[in-house]
Amino acid sequence: GFKVEFTRSGRTIECDADTALLAAAARAGLNLPASCAQGMCGTCKTPLLSGSVDMQHNGGIRPREIARNKILLCCSKPLEDLVIDA
Ligand code: FES
Repeated sequence: GFKVEFTRSGRTIECDADTALLAAAARAGLNLPASCAQGMCGTCKTPLLSGSVDMQHNGGIRPREIARNKILLCCSKPLEDLVIDA
């Protein structure tokens, strides 16, 4: 798995390439704001500070937000080690 650091929470967790970040965080006892868990509502939108993800969303984020390195944690899987502003 990859290392995922959540800077505001002060936690670093492991997340496999086939696991969404929100689910991996919850499994590690880190409960982050979320609602639909399907990439639609935007509640889990978070700045990605370092690294890259595979994000398969359903309209919950705009292209210009993606261009500014925001991600939806519920539908993003890590492609490498990450640092996230959450
Ligand atoms: Fe709704 Fe992630 S929880 S988009």
